[in-house]
This record gives sequence, C-alpha cells and structure tokens, in this order.
Amino acid sequence: MRFSLALAALLGAALALLAEAIAAPPVRAQDCATETPKDDIRGPEAQALYDCISDSLYKSFQGSGVKEAAEYRDWSYASTSPYLSATHGSRFVVNLINDIGKKAYLDFLDQGLKMPVGTIAAKESFTIDRTGKVKRGPLFFMEKAERGALPDTNDWKYTLILPNGKVMGVTGTETGVKVKFCHDCHAAVADTQDSMLYLPEEYRVQR
Ligand code: HEC
Repeated sequence: MRFSLALAALLGAALALLAEAIAAPPVRAQDCATETPKDDIRGPEAQALYDCISDSLYKSFQGSGVKEAAEYRDWSYASTSPYLSATHGSRFVVNLINDIGKKAYLDFLDQGLKMPVGTIAAKESFTIDRTGKVKRGPLFFMEKAERGALPDTNDWKYTLILPNGKVMGVTGTETGVKVKFCHDCHAAVADTQDSMLYLPEEYRVQR
C-alpha cells in the first residue's frame, strides 16, 4: 500500500513535469534563444520568440525617418503567429494592415480585389542564427498610392528598412531600383489580387 502510494506520487510528479515541459516552449527568454531547429519552430514558440525581441525590433526602425515605422504597431495583425517566409529571406514574418486596408485585405479575395488608396501593409521579420539566438530582420511596407502615381508597380510603393534603421529602398525615389525586385514578384497577382500575396491559410486572422 505504502509502496504504491509513493509510486503514485512519483508518477504524479513526473506527469506534472511533463505537462510543464509541453506547455512551456523551449525558449530561453533571458537571451531570446531556442534549441528547436529553425524549420520546426511554429505557433506558440514562434510567437514567444517574437514577443521576446518585439520591443528591440520596433525600436530599431525608429531612426529611419519613415513616418509609418512609428505607426505600424497600432495596426491590425493579419497573421495569428509568425511563420517562415521563404520569399522574404527565409525569415519569420508577421503581417499587419492599417485601418484603411483592413476590411479589403482580411477577406483574402482571389479575384477582383482593389485595395483602397492609402492602404499600407507591413511585414516585420526576424531570424534564428546558428546558435539558436533570435536576430532582428528588416521591415517591409507596401503602400497603395494615388491611381496613376507609380505606373511601373501598379501604384504600390515598396519600402525596405534594415534593422539598423537604414532605408534600403523606396519605390518612386532615387533608391527605387533597390526595391524593384519586390514588385517583380508581387506583380504575379496584380490583375486578380491587386498584388497582395496574403499569407499561408493556417496563419490568417479570421474575422
Ligand atoms: C519572390 C517573391 C517575393 C519578393 C521578391 C517579395 N515578396 Fe513580399 N510577399 C511575397 C509572398 C509570397 C507574400 C505572402 C506570403 C509570405 O509572407 O511569404 C508576400 C507578402 C508581402 C507583404 C504583405 C502584403 C501581401 O502581399 O499580402 C508585404 C508588405 C510585402 N510582401 C512586402 C515586400 C517588399 C517590400 C518586398 C521587397 C523588399 C517584397 N515583399 C519582396 C512574395 C515576395
């Protein structure tokens, strides 16, 4: 009797530990790092890593002089957690959309989409280095300009800001050539989805 009680207690303790291990993602919060291989990181663990660097990520864009870099965190998240994006340098990304574009974007239409002038979509990114540490990545913007303002890019202004605050390129300015590759890819859906490529279905915010 005694023996089985002790055993039950031990088993209980082991189960509690196991439950804790499952519940807590293996994120080393003190240094924003993880032991999980990059390709296996998703959901709550990806979110925990993002939460860990979120403040320093936001701050790193504040020296850029780009007005929206101070505003985008007040917009709506279109992604439920960060996900790996092969097309943005194999980084983890999250998507946000401003109030003007929110209604149209979150329908995720695949035909006949027209985003309103003044829409801005933002994409933040981070990566995991070989030691498992989280590293800040660039900030991406797409802004819908007035009709006819940027004929080469279906009136989309692309902006790329590096995590040191340097603005790499902005469509329609002297650095536009540096972000030309953005629209080369997004243009694939210019006619049907107004160049919006959305995000994998499992990460879309539901309305
Ligand atoms: C090789 C293709 C490719 C290139 C190049 C590319 N993107 Fe994207 N972009 C995508 C895809 C695919 C998505 C949606 C899925 C994802 O996030 O991976 C997307 C999504 C976005 C979004 C969210 C709005 C949307 O389309 O739904 C923004 C903002 C964005 N990209 C900005 C940029 C900027 C700025 C650049 C250039 C610095 C760029 N992208 C370069 C393929 C590309």
